[in-house]
Amino acid sequence: MKFIFVDNPNEGGIKGAQVFKNALANNAKTFGLATGSTPISTYNEITKSNLDFSNKISFNLDEYIGLKPTNPQSYHFYMNKYFFSVKPFAQSYLLNGLATSEEAELARYDRLLEKYPIDLQLLGIGKNGHIGFNEPGTPFDLTSHKVKLTESTIKTNSRFFNNINEVPKYAFSMGIRSIMSSKQILLEAYGEKKADAVAKMINGPVTEQLPASILQTHQNVIVIVDEAAASKI
Ligand code: F6R
Repeated sequence: MKFIFVDNPNEGGIKGAQVFKNALANNAKTFGLATGSTPISTYNEITKSNLDFSNKISFNLDEYIGLKPTNPQSYHFYMNKYFFSVKPFAQSYLLNGLATSEEAELARYDRLLEKYPIDLQLLGIGKNGHIGFNEPGTPFDLTSHKVKLTESTIKTNSRFFNNINEVPKYAFSMGIRSIMSSKQILLEAYGEKKADAVAKMINGPVTEQLPASILQTHQNVIVIVDEAAASKI
C-alpha cells in the first residue's frame, strides 16, 4: 500500500483527482466509483478540471434497493449530481435498485464487470471496515450480491435521510472479488471516526470481519488519509 497523508479532505480531493489523471494518462478505460461523503472532494476537483471521461466506462459500487434513480438519496442521483452531470462517461453502469428480478440484475452486473475490467476503483471505508456495502462477515470471494445493511450502517447513513425509518434495509453491492480484480484501488478516509477502521485495515489481520483488510493483499493500492483518520495507525 502506498500512503498519501493530507491535511484535510480538500487536499485529499486534489490528490485523489491526480490519481484519476494518472490513470487516464496510463490509458485506463474503466473506473469504479463510490458514493458517500468521502469522494465528494475528489469529484469536485475532477469536475473543475479538464479531465475527460467521455469515452470511458464507469461502474458504481452499490445502490440501495427500493429507491428510484430520481430519489435524492439514491446513489444514481448522487452520481448525477456530483459527477456525471458535469463529466459524462460514454457508459455508466449502476446496479438497479428497482430491478424486478434481483438475481438477473446481479448476473447482469457481473457479466458487465467481466467484460469491462476496472482499471481504477475508488473506495471509501465504513466505520466497521466495510467497502462498498460488503459488511463484516461477507465472504471475500463474493461477486455482486444483495446485502442486509447492518444497524451500524443504517444509523450512520440515516444522516442523509429525514429519519432513520426511511433508510433502506437492503442494498445491492459489488462483491469483494470484483473490487479486488481492479488493477488499481484508491481508498480515501477522512476524520477521527475512520481511525479504528483504517488502523485495522492496515495493521490488523486479513479477516472477513474487517472487509477492507483484504486490501493488504492487493498489489496496487493507494490510501489517502488525513491526520485524524491516520491517528491510530
Ligand atoms: C459508498 C460505499 C460505502 C462508503 C462508506 C463510507 O458507495 O460504498 O462503502 O464508501 O460507507 O461512507 P462515507 O464516505 O459517507 O463516510
